[in-house]
Amino acid sequence: MPDIDWSRAQFPALRLKAGPQPAVFFDAPGGTQVPQRVADAVADSLLSANANLHGAFKTSRDCERIVREAHRAAADFLGCDSREVVFGPNMTTLTFALSRSLARDLSAGDEIIVTKLDHDANHAPWKALCERGIVLREVEFHAEDCTLDLDDFQSKLNAKTKLAAIAYASNAVGTINDVEALIRRARAAGALTFIDAVHYAPHGPLDVRRLDCDFLVCSAYKFFGPHQGLLYGKAEHLERLRPYKVRPAGEDIPERFETGTQNHEAMAGVTAAVDYLAELGRRTDGALSERPRREQIAAAMQAVRAYERGLAAALVKGLLAIPGLRFFGIREPERFDRRTPTVAVRIDGLHPRRIAERLGRQGFFVWDGNYYALNLTESLGVESDGGMVRIGLAHYNTAEEVERFLTALGELARSAR
Ligand SMILES: Cc1ncc(COP(=O)(O)O)c(C=O)c1O
Repeated sequence: MPDIDWSRAQFPALRLKAGPQPAVFFDAPGGTQVPQRVADAVADSLLSANANLHGAFKTSRDCERIVREAHRAAADFLGCDSREVVFGPNMTTLTFALSRSLARDLSAGDEIIVTKLDHDANHAPWKALCERGIVLREVEFHAEDCTLDLDDFQSKLNAKTKLAAIAYASNAVGTINDVEALIRRARAAGALTFIDAVHYAPHGPLDVRRLDCDFLVCSAYKFFGPHQGLLYGKAEHLERLRPYKVRPAGEDIPERFETGTQNHEAMAGVTAAVDYLAELGRRTDGALSERPRREQIAAAMQAVRAYERGLAAALVKGLLAIPGLRFFGIREPERFDRRTPTVAVRIDGLHPRRIAERLGRQGFFVWDGNYYALNLTESLGVESDGGMVRIGLAHYNTAEEVERFLTALGELARSAR
């Protein structure tokens, strides 16, 4: 069990109010809050190491240290070598850059698999390659529980498949895909794999070596850090692929993919976010104090996973008891190893925006709309009518918040009948 009281005390934003009521942050899939130490690290970097890299003076060397430490921290978070971590503005921009780079080795008629469960950032960069004659194959999902259609995935794999781009978890309905199995199948067909772990990253341990994926992306602002994208790529690919870059920039990895001047202050924040998780791990299991940071992070994320599963069970049970509520995604608690605590709902007679507004006025911060999972909301037939209300929890939320939320939503639903 993670030490939630300690965790909550780390996040100053959790003390904010919305009018007279405490703010309840159920907007985690859109971006999580940050511990004090993340804000401090960003500020320190700007105030004491604000220089560009490779200079002959102290602040430049200090900035290089920040960059090195951030690569090490991210490598511990992902389970890889620090040379295999590429930083960039956000996942979307990194994915567009990688897709263009990969396309240099593709030919017209080559195929890429994407899924209809995914955020558009794992669709549009691959779709853009259709201009070069590359063919996109879109995998369907089962509407009744929003799980991927594995038979459809298999049927779309063939000798022309060069890449499978798959979400680890859906940012809209919380489904965790069986990425291990999907990666195995893609690999057996000779395809590379690109995993979008943006939504999954704050909810469970990541281990790119065990997954054996070729690429994986995430975004630190979804796992308690600042706005900073991260791309893992196997060293062999980062060395082999040809990035679009300026000539004077280095040819070593990962620099050759880190175009332009990076957001050094955000990198300092990434290290602090990873260190926060490591400390959470040590508090979960004191025996880990002398163990490597990676093990501490893994323990934290296992504990987070178990804790969030309990919150999700209470949330989903309460939601399903509300008359007139339509629930999207996996609902059976015994299948919750296949979902994050992110759920999407609609209520008969109430537009999602009106629900989010009314909840917002009571201090409950939830998203409405499509959250860029456009293929999903279109397939579910809700896109033209406001999408869905998304309730997205993180480990800093509590059972008491869930209970109060369910009461508020229940009253709101009753008022619509
Ligand atoms: C699953 C998923 N993929 C990709 C993205 C895009 O990430 P970024 O904002 O870092 O470009 C998001 C953002 O919400 C997301 O939830």
